Amino acid sequence: MVQLERRDADYEVRQAAGQVDLGYLLLPEAWGRGYATEACEAALGWFAVALPGEAVVLITQTANTPSMRLAARLGFVEVERFEAYDAEQWFGTWTATTTG
Ligand SMILES: CC(C)(COP(=O)(O)OP(=O)(O)OC[C@H]1O[C@@H](n2cnc3c(N)ncnc32)[C@H](O)[C@@H]1OP(=O)(O)O)[C@@H](O)C(=O)NCCC(=O)NCCS
Repeated sequence: MVQLERRDADYEVRQAAGQVDLGYLLLPEAWGRGYATEACEAALGWFAVALPGEAVVLITQTANTPSMRLAARLGFVEVERFEAYDAEQWFGTWTATTTG
């Protein structure tokens, strides 16, 4: 699953309120082959054409190393870290110009 979802204005994570949020979830047997990178790049490429100049945001736990590595590969840039759901969260943004 790769998902681009616009969060409500009153979304519980205020940093993402009103923003388009990227989510990803692959079955474990599909990990480690680049599929998530390829799928997310395709979704972001579509988004860059559909909504030019608009940012996509991403929230993930800093302890989630594969997710943090994926975010970096995709070109997401850290904005801040914060505590939520009993864990440190990473909040980053991406725009088409970020990665060229
Ligand atoms: C987050 C998640 C999608 C990342 O999966 P992933 O397999 O690490 O990411 P990719 O599919 O892009 O694969 C990249 C890895 O495959 C490797 N790889 C192997 N063959 C490859 C190939 N032919 N091409 C590209 N990459 C390849 C890469 O080196 C990379 O490994 P590395 O990070 O150790 O260098 C996965 O861990 C997941 O679904 N987790 C559960 C859900 C979750 O936590 N979501 C985030 C919640 S916010």
